[in-house]
Amino acid sequence: MILQDATQIVMRDMTAADIPAVADLCFEQQWPHREEDLEMLLSMGSGLVAEIDGKVGGSIMSWRFDPSFATLGVIIIAVAHQGRGLGRQMAIAMIERLAGLTVLVNATEEGRSLYGKLGFVELGTVCQHNAIAPAQPLVELRAGERVRPMGAADAEVLEALYSAAMGMDRKVVLDELFARGSTVVLCKEHEQTGFAVIRRFGRGWAIGPVVAPDVTGAKALIAHWLGTQTGSFCRIDIPEQPAPDAAGLGPWLEEVGLPQVDRVTRMALGPAPVPGGTARLFALAAQALG
Ligand SMILES: CC(C)(COP(=O)(O)OP(=O)(O)OC[C@H]1O[C@@H](n2cnc3c(N)ncnc32)[C@H](O)[C@@H]1OP(=O)(O)O)[C@@H](O)C(=O)NCCC(=O)NCCS
Repeated sequence: MILQDATQIVMRDMTAADIPAVADLCFEQQWPHREEDLEMLLSMGSGLVAEIDGKVGGSIMSWRFDPSFATLGVIIIAVAHQGRGLGRQMAIAMIERLAGLTVLVNATEEGRSLYGKLGFVELGTVCQHNAIAPAQPLVELRAGERVRPMGAADAEVLEALYSAAMGMDRKVVLDELFARGSTVVLCKEHEQTGFAVIRRFGRGWAIGPVVAPDVTGAKALIAHWLGTQTGSFCRIDIPEQPAPDAAGLGPWLEEVGLPQVDRVTRMALGPAPVPGGTARLFALAAQALG
């Protein structure tokens, strides 16, 4: 228990009963998360809330991924209580729980200075694109390639592709998203080379993760989902791409009617994960989950 300005502040574990209050914190920040989105996030990880005079006024969540990584998200202090050290205290409390792990966060501009002061280093950026999806032109596939719906027999291969592309075990996230969303698979000569998941999120739909061998494959997967959601609000969060795809996906999303609306900074406290394998990550599962 911490006393501050004669206000009683209690930091405790987040439970499912806190979700409506955390959704209110999101709403105040104009973040799109619905209660269902937050429930899904909490079901995969854990959280802390700060109760200020009996009312939830701060939140933070975290997720662990083998072998040695964790991500932080849903870090919010109610506007009325910001700037008094509470965000820092909650971040430190959660980081202490994750001792021994590299902690990753996609930080907003406000979060960036807080995490910088806690020793996080900047790894890159993630660009958020969203809009009401306009009608999509088809993306031409190469010889032997096709995009098809996922079948139960694909799960293990797709988990391996995703985990390699992320440099950490992502089975927990993907199993949850397979159950909640729909998935298409990119194949070359019957071999799975990539995939893209779409699920309900916020005001509409979120496309991600997207894993593909190259930017052309990623475009084909994304165009498939945008095409099925014409007229609906769609969001996609894309990490900065290394050469030779650096100028690929972001400008293409702008061209097809999904402008960049925001940008966050990918930060790490500890050694960054090292992606491997043949496929790369072209869109995040969620800003919070990485
Ligand atoms: C970011 C946030 C959680 C910080 O919580 P807080 O209780 O206001 O922050 P603290 O009082 O503990 O301050 C910690 C540091 O954060 C930074 N900070 C806080 N508010 C900031 C702001 N509005 N702009 C820039 N930096 C800010 C400062 O660097 C501060 O360091 P200092 O005390 O040495 O000056 C809070 O401002 C918030 O909820 N913002 C909106 C949601 C958001 O962007 N969350 C971060 C997601 S990564």
